[in-house]
Amino acid sequence: MSPLSERLPNMEFFIDSADIEAIRELCSFLPIDGVTTNPTIITKSGKGPQQVFDELCEVLTEDQKIIAQVVSLDYEGILEEAEKIASIRGGKNIVVKIPVTREGLRTIPAVKAKGISVLATGIYSPDQAFWAAKAGADYLAPYVNRMCNYGDGIGQVIELIETLAIYGFEAKVCAASFKNVDQVHQLLAAGVPAITVNPGTIRDMIDHPGTGIAMKEFTANWKKAYGRTSLQ
Ligand code: E4P
Repeated sequence: MSPLSERLPNMEFFIDSADIEAIRELCSFLPIDGVTTNPTIITKSGKGPQQVFDELCEVLTEDQKIIAQVVSLDYEGILEEAEKIASIRGGKNIVVKIPVTREGLRTIPAVKAKGISVLATGIYSPDQAFWAAKAGADYLAPYVNRMCNYGDGIGQVIELIETLAIYGFEAKVCAASFKNVDQVHQLLAAGVPAITVNPGTIRDMIDHPGTGIAMKEFTANWKKAYGRTSLQ
């Protein structure tokens, strides 16, 4: 078994959004493992952060993770906000996103020491991710589409997964920042252990026009032959 496929049973699929209606819709028919947000995603919701967190707690079960980001960029601010985020829903399945800046990397061990789960975010290179893993982050979020602006973002994320396996780091790659289904597909095919995808791209993964055409054709033929649209 390759190091990539060994990680598959714990595979997690998150929605990257603060659009509560979209989250409710997708959770109604897909086995979604949780939701990730970032400061921009929250501002785009048109709601305040507390309202977004309250609504996420309403729409998600306690088994579905809420992954939210600190806004402050200094050590004390990150620590304080990490504790605040970690208190959402009594801390059940809450993960705090911390950027891989110098201050962020310095803060990760301190946040972990408080028993708080950490997702290292804003990752543009496997080397930043390596240091976040070494600092003790639980998840590493490479910004795939943004990395593709500079080179082979997909290849770099696959290489990162392999590097983590070589060293036995427990940190899990949570690939983020997607603009199309093909980017998602390539990482799923490579065995990415966690991924967060915006609602539009998740819908595009599912709603293939060919499937609708095929179902229409089956129903029409059945109705023509038996005069009904159900088995019996
Ligand atoms: C993930 O959690 C990131 O914040 C997010 O995917 C970034 O995506 P963007 O590149 O579309 O802003």
